[in-house]
Parts: sequence; C-alpha cells; structure tokens
Amino acid sequence: MTDLHHHGDAELAPGLVDLAVNVRAGTPPPWLRTLLHRALDDSAAYPDAGPARAAVAAAHDRDQSEVLLTAGAAEAFTLLARALRPRSAVVVHPSFTEPEAALRAAGHPVSRLLLSAGDGYRLHPADVPADADLVVLGNPTNPTSVLHPAATVAALARPGRVLVVDEAFADTVPGEPQSLAGRADLPGLVVVRSLTKTWGLAGLRVGYTLAPADLVEAMTAQQPHWPVSTPALVALVACTTPAARAEAHAAAAALEDHRRALVDALPPGVDVVGEPRSSFVLLRVPDGSRVREALRDRGWAVRRGNTFPGLSADHFRVAVRDPGTSRAFAAALAEILSRDPAPEELR
Ligand SMILES: Cc1ncc(COP(=O)(O)O)c(C=O)c1O
Repeated sequence: MTDLHHHGDAELAPGLVDLAVNVRAGTPPPWLRTLLHRALDDSAAYPDAGPARAAVAAAHDRDQSEVLLTAGAAEAFTLLARALRPRSAVVVHPSFTEPEAALRAAGHPVSRLLLSAGDGYRLHPADVPADADLVVLGNPTNPTSVLHPAATVAALARPGRVLVVDEAFADTVPGEPQSLAGRADLPGLVVVRSLTKTWGLAGLRVGYTLAPADLVEAMTAQQPHWPVSTPALVALVACTTPAARAEAHAAAAALEDHRRALVDALPPGVDVVGEPRSSFVLLRVPDGSRVREALRDRGWAVRRGNTFPGLSADHFRVAVRDPGTSRAFAAALAEILSRDPAPEELR
C-alpha cells in the first residue's frame, strides 16, 4: 500500500551519501547562517510578519493581501484542506504526496490523475475532469523532475475551481520560466512556494503561498497566531533580495550542468524517466528494490519510488550533486548491475 507520509529523509542513515533528499548541498550559505544566528538573538519578541510579507509580495509583484507566510510549503496543504470543502478533488500523480494526505486527513474524497510514463509524464488539461473543483499538481514535479509549460498549467484554471500548483522546486529552474507565481489574473490559482530546497532550510520550516485575497483569508483563518518564527521571517526577507535571487539563479544554472553530468554518467540498463528539469532525476532499473539495497550497502541513499502513486519498486529518485559525486554514484550502480544481474524472471 502507498505510504503517503514516506519521504526521502526516511532513507537516510549515518554514513550514507545523501541522494535521497533534494536539498541543495552546502546550504544554508554562510551569509544566511549569520543572519539566522542574529535572528535568534531577537527571538524574545513575538514575530512581526509585516516586512517578510512585503518582501515576498514585492519579489513576485503581488499585492500583500495575496501573500500567506507558512511554516514550510507543507503547512499550506493542510491549511487548504481545512479551509476548502471540495466536492471533487483531483491530485495529479506521480507527485509529492503531502497534498493528497492533507486532503484525505481533512475527510475529502480524492481522485488521482496518473500521468503516463510513455508520454514523458506530460500534462494534458483535457484529462482533468471538467467538474473537478480542486486540482493539485507540482511544477516542476517531484519525483519525475518534469517541468510543465506555464500555459498548460494555466489552462486548468477556471471560475469555480481552486488550482493548487506546488512550486517548491520552481527556483531550481534558471529564470523560473514556467512559474505562475506572478499570475494574479488566473481565477482560483494557489501557488505554493518553499525556501527549503534552494536555501537548505528544511529544519527552519519556511514557505509561502500566493493566492487570491479571499483564499489567503480563508487559509489564514486556519492558522494559529504567529505561525512563522522570527528566524524564518528573517530568511524570507533575506532570500528575496536581488542579491539572493541572483545567487539562486546561479545555483540553478550550475545545477543544469551537474544534472547533465549525472545523466551522462549513468550506465546502460538505467532509464531516466521523463525529461528532468529540477534538482533530481527519476530512474528506472530492473529489480529496483535489490539495486537500491545494494546501493545502500555501498553507502548510497536514494529515494525509493514505490510510495509514489503510479511508480513501482523499480523506480528511484536521485538528487543531483556535484559531478564527482554523481560519477562515483554511477560507477557504484554500474558495478551492481554488472555483478549482480537480475534474475531472468524479474527482467
Ligand atoms: C514537491 C514538494 N513540495 C513541498 C515540499 C515540502 O516543502 P517544505 O519543506 O517547504 O514544507 C516538498 C518536500 O519534500 C516537496 O518535495
């Protein structure tokens, strides 16, 4: 059965190289650490979200009434599930599972739209049922790393429907060309963002949502008072400055080269599924469970695929790291595939 609460961090153990969690290596950067340490000194007072909300609104050219600051992107899914009463919620898969888990926990019926591997996990708006009043998808999508065109995603928006686009990985794509974060004109559009991945702040819990003011109000009504800590608010201001955005852009550009190096190093017999555009790639390998265990034995943690709806034990997700690490990983994979051929019946 699919465990909707299984995430990459569960694959980690001391001594393993982490290819399971897609947080940018070497983060948070020193300048951000310094600011966070200082923010702790200012934590005796209750947090003031004003400057951070203004900074996020300015960064995306949105009105402040369209910004909700959250304890990570994950909180936004729970707030939405509690604020809305969807009659027909559709979650596009394979995809990050917390939105579906939050909807189910709130008692809403959920149907899944499974994109097809044969089609490169492309999104076809006509496949989304016309009567869906809540549609959730990720862009770029975890775990496929596929980036849907903005126009294709935007085509799903319509009056009477809430369209939730999880853009937790949007800043891993240089220039964020397919982001809908700035689109205040689309009805019911909710864009969920995170500082976790690019800035290495998974433990701080910091993200935000951009949505029409009435939806922001409905989500806010589900939040406790002071939901985002002073250090998290400091991070929001610091990571939306032009200098920080330039740094994120440079990291995303370097990532493209690093991803190419990883893909190029992979041995025969390993399929890259979908066109990867984010900080991870989805692989398919025959007898994947055994291969994943063998990788673990050799010191490599990858993210299993079979807890994602639509994927199997032959899928696993691998974070893009520096080319040296990727080549060493690919060599370990090649050695496993050559030494321990899968039994015929499993091929
Ligand atoms: C696609 C996606 N969205 C959202 C999240 C959650 O992000 P946050 O740490 O901001 O709650 C994750 C974390 O793995 C993710 O992969």
